[in-house]
Amino acid sequence: MSTDWIGRQLGSYRLLSLLGHGGYADVYLGEHIYLKTQAAIKVLRTQLTDEDIEHFRTEAFTIAHLVHPHIVRVFDFSVLDNNPFLVMDYAPNGTLRHRHPKGSRLTPDVFLPYVMDITSALQYAHDQKLIHRDIKPENMLLSPSNQVLLSDFGIATVSQNTLSQTTEDMVIGTMAYMSPEQLQGKARPASDQYALAVVVYEWLSGARPFNGTYVELLTQHLSTDPPFLDEQTLAIPHAVQQVIRRALAKDPHQRFARIQDFANALEWAYRTANVATPRASSSREDVRPAASITSQTTRVRSGAAQAPPPPPKAPSRSAPGPILSFAAASAPQLTTSARSVGRGLGRLTRTVLLAILLIGALICGLGYATYNQFFASQDTSPTTINQSGATTLADGFAQAISTQHYDQAYNDLGPGLAKKNQFEQDAQSEDQCNGPITTYKRVSSTMSGNKLVETYEMTRSKLANTYNLTLTLQGDSSGRWQITDYQSGAPACPSS
Ligand SMILES: Nc1ncnc2c1ncn2[C@@H]1O[C@H](COP(=O)(O)OP(=O)(O)OP(=O)(O)O)[C@@H](O)[C@H]1O
Ligand SMILES: [Mg+2]
Repeated sequence: MSTDWIGRQLGSYRLLSLLGHGGYADVYLGEHIYLKTQAAIKVLRTQLTDEDIEHFRTEAFTIAHLVHPHIVRVFDFSVLDNNPFLVMDYAPNGTLRHRHPKGSRLTPDVFLPYVMDITSALQYAHDQKLIHRDIKPENMLLSPSNQVLLSDFGIATVSQNTLSQTTEDMVIGTMAYMSPEQLQGKARPASDQYALAVVVYEWLSGARPFNGTYVELLTQHLSTDPPFLDEQTLAIPHAVQQVIRRALAKDPHQRFARIQDFANALEWAYRTANVATPRASSSREDVRPAASITSQTTRVRSGAAQAPPPPPKAPSRSAPGPILSFAAASAPQLTTSARSVGRGLGRLTRTVLLAILLIGALICGLGYATYNQFFASQDTSPTTINQSGATTLADGFAQAISTQHYDQAYNDLGPGLAKKNQFEQDAQSEDQCNGPITTYKRVSSTMSGNKLVETYEMTRSKLANTYNLTLTLQGDSSGRWQITDYQSGAPACPSS
């Protein structure tokens, strides 16, 4: 029974209550017996052989070294009486499945940030040749500050390799999200992309592309095209549909090369659609390029490497035609005096229209030039200004110094900042005099051009008050970000 462990001690944790259970494990809230800190303890419902235990340890080692702001930290793995368990961060705000129950439809402003955060975690793992294998909303947890944290990284592999028997109801990973190649035992990084695309499909439409029994799901993933999303009912741009269908391709080679490319393309498909909508809705917007350019510059700050949206159209030369010919055609039906008034009015109308045309052309020309200058000189190719990449870097730095991974933190700094030895020495002496960092929380994020300033509120064990850590990041023309300045508001420490 799953509640068997309540009140018992696993490692240094006493299990307080059951948080939930999944296909192959039960998760408990645990409390450290001395420190009284809380953690989630996941107890696998399997007994390991001695041979399995060694394998479990090797896999566990890899998972425990995944350090990323959007990945649940696993800080202990062990086996008690052949029962494998792992200790991880407790996420008190539940999962994205709890927050958005089955059937919910989410708007892009809600789900795109989730997608970007999850993707940054997955891309980080893929770069280290690791595959998640069980992407689904149940494995997306919410931190105390409601940040999305991906959980069960590689657990699917651990369990798959260690569970002695696997039955149909004990499928590793979850069938509804599983790519054709993974179902055939050949998971690869693109399998996570497919699973994430199923999640996006579900968030958008309220339903997953494939449903049914084990065999039905297997057949559909392998050989049925996903149903088209109803673009009109769901009010989604066609480009969004195309991006999702590409990520759901049966052949992994036809998907995006990297999961980050998928997320960028999705974000870009929405952003370009947002830019296009107001211009498409009213032709009069076209002769007011200055206004539309301002809104474009703020909206196209990130996305995939695709062509920027087309420049605002110049006013159509044929547009005044019908108005002028209407005046000419009406004239013969008028009386003489009326005709002369009409002629006068006609001349006046023509003059006014000509003046409007000239002014319109002038404004359009100026707008077009500004537009060109903006795209040429600032090169807003979507990878250039990708704030989520910068935020990930800053979060990674904050996390690295909080966990005393100074090597990693140092690598995030651009050239021109402290030398490595100096940086590590300063960080260690600050840990000594003010105590280690106990919490960090991003409190503000200000973007200006290619510069991003992120401020974190920090706490240290020996300080009664919080202080701010401010990081300045600079993006270069190829879309890479570096930390160019960091300012800590912590009380100064005697130099070592
Ligand atoms: N770190 C955590 N903090 C808080 N709650 C958690 C944590 N990990 C899991 N849970 C809770 O426990 C439940 C069960 O998690 P578990 O990972 O065993 O199953 P699952 O993800 O639903 O399915 P699967 O068996 O495919 O992994 C989750 O749905 C969640 O509510
Ligand atoms: Mg899980």
